[in-house]
Amino acid sequence: MNVSDFFAERKIMIAKEALDYISSRPDPISYAEAVIEKNEGKKFLTLDDVKLETAKVDLVKRDDEDERIEAFFPVEFKPVAKDIEPRVKIFDELDVTGKSNSDGEVSDFVNYFRDRFERISDILKQRGSTVRDIETLKKRRYQEVVRVIGMVTDKRYSKNGHILLVVEDPTDQLTVLVPKSDEPLMDVASTLLHDEVIAIDGKFSRGDLFIAKDIIQPDIVQKSIKTSDEDVALAMISDTHIGSRLFLEKIFRKFIDWLNGKGPRADLAGKVKYLTIAGDLVDGIGIYPGQENELAILDIYDQYEAFERFMEEIPEYIEVFVIPGNHDAVRVADPQPAISKELIPELYSCKNFHMLGSPGYVSIHDIEVLIYHGQSIHSFVPFLSGFDYAHPERLGIEALKRRHLHPVYGEKPPIAPESRDYLVIERVPDIMHFADVHKNGYANYKGVTIVNSGTWQDITPYQIKQGHHPTPGILPVITLMNRKLNILKFKKGESIGSTSLS
Ligand SMILES: [Fe+2]
Repeated sequence: MNVSDFFAERKIMIAKEALDYISSRPDPISYAEAVIEKNEGKKFLTLDDVKLETAKVDLVKRDDEDERIEAFFPVEFKPVAKDIEPRVKIFDELDVTGKSNSDGEVSDFVNYFRDRFERISDILKQRGSTVRDIETLKKRRYQEVVRVIGMVTDKRYSKNGHILLVVEDPTDQLTVLVPKSDEPLMDVASTLLHDEVIAIDGKFSRGDLFIAKDIIQPDIVQKSIKTSDEDVALAMISDTHIGSRLFLEKIFRKFIDWLNGKGPRADLAGKVKYLTIAGDLVDGIGIYPGQENELAILDIYDQYEAFERFMEEIPEYIEVFVIPGNHDAVRVADPQPAISKELIPELYSCKNFHMLGSPGYVSIHDIEVLIYHGQSIHSFVPFLSGFDYAHPERLGIEALKRRHLHPVYGEKPPIAPESRDYLVIERVPDIMHFADVHKNGYANYKGVTIVNSGTWQDITPYQIKQGHHPTPGILPVITLMNRKLNILKFKKGESIGSTSLS
């Protein structure tokens, strides 16, 4: 028996240099027995512990000794999260699941836009200034600067290079001129999207033109960084695409093993109390032409069953929140309702699994998390210069500025005109978890941590054609006590070691 096995059998961790020291003795096993006798009850041995004679040299203890200690075989996994009670609140009122009432009638569209206008208008009104409705503004033709709130229905450049906006409130519509001489204002106006709701300060000049002096997006105010009072962590995954031939099963299994304490950074794995899964659990069926050639599992029920098999291996003390994505078997239009019980019956019977819509909104240890698959990125990128798929984290920033997850209506992906606009960001979360583009990305905007959690599927031929650069097998984990973002890489050739982005 070698010395390493001798200590492993006794479940005692030992520093590498201590092991080397013992191995260099004339009779290492007898020496090891004497070391155990001397250190009875100790589960971890340093070099000092294993030196049985009084050291004659090396009297100066190095300050960095602790950091040099390299434990090289695992001891029993004792997850701290197991002994911590979950603290979960689910904001059902912000979730469309079970409440969809849209039939696509004209009245549905009218109600939907009215609700969007009212909700964002309420946020803008908290900024103080008196707001005039457009009908009154046009009648009274105030001489001073006044504020209106409107939804952008058109934006174009005039022959002279000004920006002309058409905005609407429930009373009327108004054409607004943003003068090209006002460069800061032109910068703001150039980023405005159709159907977002803004406030405009301005006054009439000659004719019917309302000249903008300022444009105010609802945005958020700086948030203080909220932390938890217990040492728990949130892990975030998405886009597993189970059922696809390109699902990276081995790498995903490494992640599941890691959650169970097998692998490096078991200290961090043991803190994971919460897991959010932001959609595209399975690859689905008939999502795009020719997809069947890329499937390993051809039946949708079998795909979800395979997903359930993996989920069963997640420790029961972890609370899991699952939302759908555009590959899941729910309607594709936003907001998406939760994946139904029929598809994942076993997860519905697990107390620690919570199925939500997209967007879904939860509080964990008093830290609020908004989970959204993120498909609206496809209607931001074409209309916002400088926004590309390489930086998906920008979705969170742009959505927060507009207090809306999916402002552009009538483009792909579609929005279902519900009587309540569930895509308005009324509660400002502490953390936003997005997915969809299979690319990891991180940002901090005014105290909100924004995470795109990437994928566990290899790059697809479709993505190659689109010029996408997926980043499979990368796991973001936020330790909630200090709000540190740890990035763990599970792909072969990339060590599981973490990087803290803070
Ligand atoms: Fe996906």
